[in-house]
Amino acid sequence: MIRDERIPSDELRRIDEEIRSNWHTGEAVDFEEAIEYHESLPDHKRFADVLESADKPLLQPRAGVPRLDDQIELLRYLHEEGQADLLPTTIDSYTRDNEYEKAQQGLDKARETGDDTLNGFPAVNHGVDGCRKLIDAVDAPIEVRHGTPDARLLAAITFAGGFQSFEGGPISYNIPYTKRHGLEETIEKWQFVDRLAGAYTERGVRINREPFGPLTGTLVPPSIAIAVMLVEGKLAATQGVRSITLGYGQVGNVVQDVAALHALKKLGNEYLPDEVVVTTVFHEWMGGFPPDEARANGVISFGGMTAAIAKPDKVITKSPQEFQGVPTMEANSAGLRTTRQVIDMAIEQKIDIDGIEEEQDLIERETRCLMDTIFEHGDGDVVQGTLKAFDSGALDVPFAPSDSAKGAVLPARDDDGRVRIFEWADLEMDDDIKEIHKARLSQRADTEGREQSFRMVADDVDAISDGKLIGRPQGDVKL
Ligand code: 5AD
Repeated sequence: MIRDERIPSDELRRIDEEIRSNWHTGEAVDFEEAIEYHESLPDHKRFADVLESADKPLLQPRAGVPRLDDQIELLRYLHEEGQADLLPTTIDSYTRDNEYEKAQQGLDKARETGDDTLNGFPAVNHGVDGCRKLIDAVDAPIEVRHGTPDARLLAAITFAGGFQSFEGGPISYNIPYTKRHGLEETIEKWQFVDRLAGAYTERGVRINREPFGPLTGTLVPPSIAIAVMLVEGKLAATQGVRSITLGYGQVGNVVQDVAALHALKKLGNEYLPDEVVVTTVFHEWMGGFPPDEARANGVISFGGMTAAIAKPDKVITKSPQEFQGVPTMEANSAGLRTTRQVIDMAIEQKIDIDGIEEEQDLIERETRCLMDTIFEHGDGDVVQGTLKAFDSGALDVPFAPSDSAKGAVLPARDDDGRVRIFEWADLEMDDDIKEIHKARLSQRADTEGREQSFRMVADDVDAISDGKLIGRPQGDVKL
């Protein structure tokens, strides 16, 4: 039975050897030599230090192409033209599925034809040397961003390759991403990833870890996202991680987003051990985008404005081509510059908005209910508590494709667009909190002159891409 306990060093070594034999590039990993490489890097490439010492939100895009030279060119462009503070390397889908042979075929083809035959950078196939060429060639810290349920080999190679930040976690890269992997399995695999990051940390090379906050990206109630962040943060801290960036995806209501980011930071500092430096990252809208680039820029600007008010440590930007999928480098850079313009214009303004404290208080109370139930389900052990709470539905994520979550809880926006819970299913929550949600949703139903129903939920899912925040019915609505 797995528990929230640190993996002993002999076990760490055993798993490390085993997973490095899964693909030939694993052989080149040498921990002692990798420590020396990290020590040789200049200060401005040390991810955790750069992020934690920033005095305003740092901007980071997503970006990954298959060939090394193209990836270098892309990241340099985003740094120089897009003025990204932190850079990403987005990993391709085959690597995320541990299909290194298929990733190799894609990479070979990309090298032959010059086409982007993969949707990201296959870091395992590029190996330690390939990763270091990228780290050496680009003058800013770079994070591995992916979506890999079993990221052990990817972590071993990219950490040795000089990356100092790694996205994901056992819940956040399972529940929204895969049906195939059980939660117990991904928790065990991520304990290794975190333990490896902890081993570097112990030697003075702090590897920043970033649980993926937006989860399914679709109307996730803030308290559910925050509870998952706290669990993943705690699991990482147990394994020795000391720099943790908790994430949150924009829901689009300014009051709720600002309140949620404040709650995330506060609860992160409260629930994670004192030795951990907690930072936060705000993801610009992760749901469906309008196809019209001008409107997409509006969504991006709205995210920038929210970030200027909430002041997270980092913002993950979107591009005006989000609707189409992977953006061109010009569009990617445009998303960065749009965000930058809005943040720089707004950040020095004193903007007081009514209701933020009240909403923050509600989010904190909800999150504590969820954390309490997790601790109770596991008799104090977070791993067992998480497994059992997901199993019973006391903890749940809306629209989760994974079999490990019930996906029975349903959100809907209230009358001013805050995400509330419409169907609680078995989610653990105090009755008085449920009443608050119910009252807010019935207010919306009155405004719209219709019953609360799944129709509302479906309308909300499409609303932003259709040019609105709330999925109101067409026709006469008194607002
Ligand atoms: N380059 C840039 N963005 C990417 N995304 C996924 N892969 C890449 C890539 N290789 C983005 C999508 C979406 C988010 C989930 O990740 O466009 O915004």
